[in-house]
Amino acid sequence: MKHTKNLVIREASSDDVNGIIEVLKTIYLQDEAWARKALEKLLATENYVILVAVLDRKIVGFIDYYILPSVWEKWNEATINYLFIHKDYQDRGIGSKLLKHVIKQTDKMGIIELHVGTEKENKRAIRLYKKHGFLKEHLLLEREKEQK
Ligand SMILES: CC(C)(COP(=O)(O)OP(=O)(O)OC[C@H]1O[C@@H](n2cnc3c(N)ncnc32)[C@H](O)[C@@H]1OP(=O)(O)O)[C@@H](O)C(=O)NCCC(=O)NCCS
Repeated sequence: MKHTKNLVIREASSDDVNGIIEVLKTIYLQDEAWARKALEKLLATENYVILVAVLDRKIVGFIDYYILPSVWEKWNEATINYLFIHKDYQDRGIGSKLLKHVIKQTDKMGIIELHVGTEKENKRAIRLYKKHGFLKEHLLLEREKEQK
């Protein structure tokens, strides 16, 4: 297995947008300019966090989460929206490490419910999430507007 000895996980800032975009480019990215603006907007959003995994000064993956208060329970909930590992750095345990970090951070914040969604076909991601204790299944339905 390739080394990840020097892997550092830290909170992202707007200086990391280019590095995050480089990761996305290895997987899927429809529009770079849009993504740049979206990331800047997200990073300026309250209760929204991106953690980047950095190996030898290169961003090799990232995960995000946002925190919202529940209205029907007396607690805050967090949701992971993205977890992406650079194509050349997958299968080295980096996704696992990022996920563990989020679990630790949100546990410390007293968050009771941590959610994550993925496509039903994404067996790899589902296996990773289950391995980290995401066992209770919810159904997230999606409606996509027809594009003419
Ligand atoms: C899905 C994804 C996030 C997984 O990240 P990853 O870094 O490749 O995953 P990991 O290396 O942590 O885990 C993958 C496997 O490698 C194994 N592994 C390899 N090295 C490891 C290490 N040092 N420590 C722990 N596990 C390790 C894990 O046990 C795991 O095994 P599994 O097959 O039993 O699940 C990544 O493939 C990705 O970015 N995919 C494209 C985007 C995507 O689908 N994102 C998720 C949905 S939004």
